[in-house]
Amino acid sequence: MDDPEAVLESGGRQSTRRVLVVGVGSGDPDHLTVGAVRALNRADVLFLMEKGDEDPLAVHRLRLLESALEPGARPRVVTRRVDRVAGPSPGSATGYEADRRAWRARRIAVYADLIAQLAPGETGAFLVWGDPSLFDGTLAVLDELVSRDLPAFTVEVLPGVTSVAALAARHGTSLHDVGESVTFTTGRRLRDEGWPSGATSVVVMADAGDTLAGLDDDLRVWWGAFLGLPGERVLHGRLGDCRDDIARARLECRVAEGWLFDTYLLRR
Ligand SMILES: C[S@@+](CC[C@H](N)C(=O)[O-])C[C@H]1O[C@@H](n2cnc3c(N)ncnc32)[C@H](O)[C@@H]1O
Repeated sequence: MDDPEAVLESGGRQSTRRVLVVGVGSGDPDHLTVGAVRALNRADVLFLMEKGDEDPLAVHRLRLLESALEPGARPRVVTRRVDRVAGPSPGSATGYEADRRAWRARRIAVYADLIAQLAPGETGAFLVWGDPSLFDGTLAVLDELVSRDLPAFTVEVLPGVTSVAALAARHGTSLHDVGESVTFTTGRRLRDEGWPSGATSVVVMADAGDTLAGLDDDLRVWWGAFLGLPGERVLHGRLGDCRDDIARARLECRVAEGWLFDTYLLRR
């Protein structure tokens, strides 16, 4: 907050309300940065966003908060639910787009309402899973709100340990060879669009399907589920040799936990 470089002024107006976007890591309390812990302790209000009735991340977020908050810190905690809304035909690309747009509109309305509740001089913190720069819409939503007729606010981002860093660390590997590039994509894109042209290293997130089934046996894969969370599983090898093990492990995770968060690195 004290570093003007780190603060984006909202609408160029004089601002007294502060919004922190705090990357809280992907589950392991040891991955909370010192900066994130300080930010959570100086916030007046913590904004917790949940998807659906029983957001499986809610309990893990609370566990992270318990380990971060100092005994004297008593921020108000405001929890809001923003469900994904099913589009006209969820299986299709247009259905997916409609769904995504509707969800984003709901998030914009809810975030606006939350920020409007901050009193002058107050600091509110949005907790973001992993790091806000990777597959997370919080910054885009706040960007959109900057132009709205809200009380002025500043935004400060506290980076977090992304699940991709947790995956690489858990396997003791880097994401790419020296001088090479790495592509980040989703399971849906890899399934629909195929292997990204020219890519040698591909990180895949948010894979709700059976993407590995359609890929070349000779790829190497570094896979991790529930990294830093109870029930963590990791596997590594030639895809042709460990595809079935990964499929079985994914199924076991779903049965044991009722949900699944996994990320993997593929390399030619
Ligand atoms: C909406 S994205 C959010 C990513 C997050 N911003 C980050 O930096 O990791 C959710 C996806 O992140 C990955 N992910 C998040 N936490 C994870 C974890 N603890 N273990 C494995 N994958 C995780 C999964 O691919 C999941 O589908």
